[in-house]
Amino acid sequence: MIILPKVQTLKPKSEPRNFFIWGSPMTGKSYFASYFPNPLILNTDGNSKQGSAPSIQLRNIRNEKGRLSQSVIKQLDEIITALQVENPKRPADQQFKTIVVDVIDDICVMIEQAICLDAGVQALSDIPYGKGYAMFNTALQQFVMDLKALPMNVIYISRELSITDENNGVTAYEPSLKTKYYNVVNGNCDVVIRTKKIGDGQNASYFREVKALRTMYDPANITDHRILQLLESCSGMFKKEDLEKLQQKKESK
Ligand SMILES: Nc1ncnc2c1ncn2[C@@H]1O[C@H](COP(=O)(O)OP(=O)(O)OP(=O)(O)O)[C@@H](O)[C@H]1O
Ligand SMILES: [Mg+2]
Repeated sequence: MIILPKVQTLKPKSEPRNFFIWGSPMTGKSYFASYFPNPLILNTDGNSKQGSAPSIQLRNIRNEKGRLSQSVIKQLDEIITALQVENPKRPADQQFKTIVVDVIDDICVMIEQAICLDAGVQALSDIPYGKGYAMFNTALQQFVMDLKALPMNVIYISRELSITDENNGVTAYEPSLKTKYYNVVNGNCDVVIRTKKIGDGQNASYFREVKALRTMYDPANITDHRILQLLESCSGMFKKEDLEKLQQKKESK
């Protein structure tokens, strides 16, 4: 029989594990993500060869009849299984500790494409009774939940969309992931970071700002030194007092 927990107020030592990074091209999204501990990049845009981290290229492959010979849904499933089963058996220094989904927008499109190709239709709406959409949501949610259940850091990368209000000329920037998918992915994220670049070419400076936080994180609770350093480089991640306190503690040691 299940034992219910006691009624009490817990004080969780919270540490962020799931990240969402968005920004316009070449602002350092992949660059930032690749500095997390032992990263594995799930790549969609084929520019992973320019990065220094190991990667798996995701794609739907069709045979000569135009049918699917490799579905991205199956590929994702196999990757998750390998991460659950094979990864923990590896020697500690060979274990992946971070999964980078670069970029999640494309994965959504690929899942959609896989379902359509499999059903021999042009669009999800061509599959009767809304079954196409249902299959899509299941596949995406399953993927996000499986990733979250892994004992690893998960980073979702998305591109940027700029929308200019024609009435007042004000431009707003947001992740290009469609809102309904954004909610699925982001419901499972702890920190949302936007990357920005100022200046061009050799004079470029790279910035990261925190857009949303699940709770107020205390830098003293971040166990991994590398992640702490990375998060410290994002403006708005920690309270200034907390960082000063941590610094004093270090100095007194
Ligand atoms: N913090 C940084 N310091 C120095 N150089 C950086 C930094 N961030 C990014 N760069 C440089 O900018 C280049 C582009 O960065 P990156 O590939 O991460 O961009 P991206 O946002 O992933 O772009 P895309 O959307 O095209 O994939 C990198 O090759 C790297 O040399
Ligand atoms: Mg990139």
